[in-house]
Amino acid sequence: METENKLKLKDTNSQDAFRYGHLMKRMFPYIRTVLGRTILLILLAIPLGLLDGVIAYSLRPYMDYVVNGNETQVFEYQGFKIQLQAFLIQFIPYAIVFFALLQGVLRYICNYLSEWTGNKMSNNLKIDLFHKLTAMDTKFYDVNSSGLVLSRFWTDPEQASRALIDTIKSFILSIFELAALVIVLLVNSWKLAVIGVSVMAIALTPVLIIRKKIKSVSNANMVIIGDMTTNFNETFAGNKIITAYNLKEHQNQKFEGQIRTQFGLLMSLVKRVGWMSPIMYFFCSIGIAIVMNYGNSLIISGDMTAGAFASFITSLLLLYKPTKSLGLTLTSLQNIFVAIARVFELFDLMPEIKNTENPKPFNGLGSGIRFSHVNFEYEEGQPVLKDFSLDVGVNETIALVGNSGGGKSTIVNLIPRFYDINSGAITINGTDLRDFNIADLRNNISFVFQDNYLFTGSIKENILMGKQNASEEEISEVLKLAHIDEFVGTLPEGINTVVGERGASLSGGQRQRVAIARAMIKNAPIVILDEATSALDNESEAVVQKALDNLIKNKTVFVIAHRLSTIQNADRIAVINEGELAEIGTHDELISIPNGKYKHLYEMQFAPAGV
Ligand SMILES: Nc1ncnc2c1ncn2[C@@H]1O[C@H](COP(=O)(O)OP(=O)(O)OP(=O)(O)O)[C@@H](O)[C@H]1O
Ligand SMILES: [Mg+2]
Repeated sequence: METENKLKLKDTNSQDAFRYGHLMKRMFPYIRTVLGRTILLILLAIPLGLLDGVIAYSLRPYMDYVVNGNETQVFEYQGFKIQLQAFLIQFIPYAIVFFALLQGVLRYICNYLSEWTGNKMSNNLKIDLFHKLTAMDTKFYDVNSSGLVLSRFWTDPEQASRALIDTIKSFILSIFELAALVIVLLVNSWKLAVIGVSVMAIALTPVLIIRKKIKSVSNANMVIIGDMTTNFNETFAGNKIITAYNLKEHQNQKFEGQIRTQFGLLMSLVKRVGWMSPIMYFFCSIGIAIVMNYGNSLIISGDMTAGAFASFITSLLLLYKPTKSLGLTLTSLQNIFVAIARVFELFDLMPEIKNTENPKPFNGLGSGIRFSHVNFEYEEGQPVLKDFSLDVGVNETIALVGNSGGGKSTIVNLIPRFYDINSGAITINGTDLRDFNIADLRNNISFVFQDNYLFTGSIKENILMGKQNASEEEISEVLKLAHIDEFVGTLPEGINTVVGERGASLSGGQRQRVAIARAMIKNAPIVILDEATSALDNESEAVVQKALDNLIKNKTVFVIAHRLSTIQNADRIAVINEGELAEIGTHDELISIPNGKYKHLYEMQFAPAGV
């Protein structure tokens, strides 16, 4: 279990999400690439935040002048007092328009910068994550659902970068907006300011209290989104089975259940978060009521001018926006750190199958492939191969037969190191597989699987995946040898015909021949065929068999098959039973063992269909 857990993504990892310093340190390389623009963004956000205060402040002399005709002391400078004041007062309406314009321009630049830096960071994260994904072992794909990985991939990097930058921007903006407005409050009346600011502080507390709740709901929501995505993928991939078994209702219900769970989660959050805003309004209204009352008495007693009061109230009202957005900033920071933690959880997964420090190049098959005393298990405590030994000579074709679940596919999966063995050794020309350069090793193996996975794209592109720099001659040769020319002629665009996702627009036999061509053009010395013909009827099998015969000529071949024709052509047949080598020899040798396993299999399975 332990090896499995190492590659399995956790549903949640809230412990890490609280290690803010650690997470920011890890994000830093990504921030560094956009550091210049981020700093510019912060520098521009400061004046942008301050401008609200300037506008609120300018109301004071204006209101005093207009309402009372009072000479305020604000602009007094020796003898120039009155002229200067009159001039400035006339100037104020224009100044407000100018400031609004300035604010608009700054806002535009800030938004542009934050989108630019956020998207750049997010893309860099996604690129690195994708590299991680393609570097992962087969086992990673065995134990993690596609939906879970996809949600890690799509939503988390966006949260970790775009939302992060956006939050930094609104944090700076709100802080400076807040500071400027508080200064305006203090300048107008420090007594009233104390009341106003205390009310704002009280209004902010509920935000701090619910942070944890938001974090756990956000985690749970990601899990359910992952489940839903997996459900989507399975509905696509398994649509024939769903139709054939009348599972539509079952799928529908599963999806509806997931939607309901998600709804419940979101509503539980809304229930807890939703009262924040009304509570804040309530506190604020109390604050304003007190301020109004007290302000009246201050004006009447002459401690405060009407203009100062108007400016004060405006600042107080304007204060609500940055206070609230500061609160939201703190809550969204929680989500962001959850996302960052999840991104780095994916980064921290290390493929177990990797090159040694000084990997050896692959120099031909030499003395052949040897399995000696191999033990292997997918899951701890459940051995699949037990003390398995087998020698395969160069250019030998060995057929693996045996009961289902006996370990045939497992044996061939070990050769390209999809999985590493637990003990024993697999060697090629005396060198342990684990000592080879992995890419080198895999370049020397052609694999044809039963499901013949084709990629979206044309037939030609799919074949070229076997050898990207193949010449036109090579392509036309494999088209002939894989018996593809027989059907591409009938296709509208020939070899450039697009095959659809998973090759859906081709027949099973056609798909198989494209997969064989892909293996053939690679021209690797080792060929592995895992049930390459089992999905076919006798007629198409004959064509595919001819294609296969061309593929395996002068190659060292492992072939797993349920069909007699394939098996009889093999040099030797290995009978695999419960992870052990039960019998080995030619067809004639094995068939003559009385009560032999092969004889039994042959009589049960092959004789009626094959002969
Ligand atoms: N990815 C995996 N994770 C865990 N267990 C696995 C995995 N693949 C196979 N197994 C288990 O290993 C055992 C051997 O499976 P394997 O696929 O090698 O059998 P097989 O001989 O190829 O069978 P078949 O003829 O049905 O294809 C089975 O018990 C199977 O459940
Ligand atoms: Mg198998």
